[in-house]
Amino acid sequence: MRIPFLSSRRREYALDPLTVADAAAVSSLHQEDFVRPWTDGEFATLLEQDTVFGFAAREVGHGAEPPVGFVLARLAAGEGEILTVAVARTHRRQGLGWQLMDAVLRNLHAERAEALFLEVDETNLAALTLYRRLGFREVGKRPNYYRSPEHGPTGALVMRRDLR
Ligand SMILES: CC(C)(COP(=O)(O)OP(=O)(O)OC[C@H]1O[C@@H](n2cnc3c(N)ncnc32)[C@H](O)[C@@H]1OP(=O)(O)O)[C@@H](O)C(=O)NCCC(=O)NCCS
Repeated sequence: MRIPFLSSRRREYALDPLTVADAAAVSSLHQEDFVRPWTDGEFATLLEQDTVFGFAAREVGHGAEPPVGFVLARLAAGEGEILTVAVARTHRRQGLGWQLMDAVLRNLHAERAEALFLEVDETNLAALTLYRRLGFREVGKRPNYYRSPEHGPTGALVMRRDLR
């Protein structure tokens, strides 16, 4: 089901469930920000799994409307996990990341999941701030988990958001 919303800059967007047809588009969005981007095939394989779901954010009224942001999550044994989330640079800071994460939280509530987990680079201020504002708290740390040209080896924070 399509969920329309107005961004904080009053641009019109909509969220749709992510499908295998979006694999190539989300793979190219993923390339913008991740040191080891996932291929079209990796996204397609994930999206074919029953436990995996996600949402795409599209700007409304722009022809073919390719996704400008997306989130991919998994629900297994009553626990959700964010696999990845990204918003195109030119569409950031107007609430799309929040809307995408909120759609996952609402979906998991409806499925009566207990909690949502994620891992985030400890130097990723934008994502950390977003997650903390959404009610995630740190429950663990994996030292030297990521490696970037900019920061070298950095730790991953494991975060949890209770859903009940
Ligand atoms: C993290 C990310 C998805 C956020 O997307 P976004 O659409 O820009 O986020 P939103 O506009 O919904 O931001 C919601 C809140 O998060 C916080 N936030 C977002 N970006 C921020 C930044 N650069 N610095 C500080 N706080 C930030 C703010 O509190 C913001 O609210 P505000 O704009 O009213 O202050 C985006 O920055 C991104 O794609 N980053 C690269 C990929 C990535 O790091 N993914 C996460 C991997 S774990």
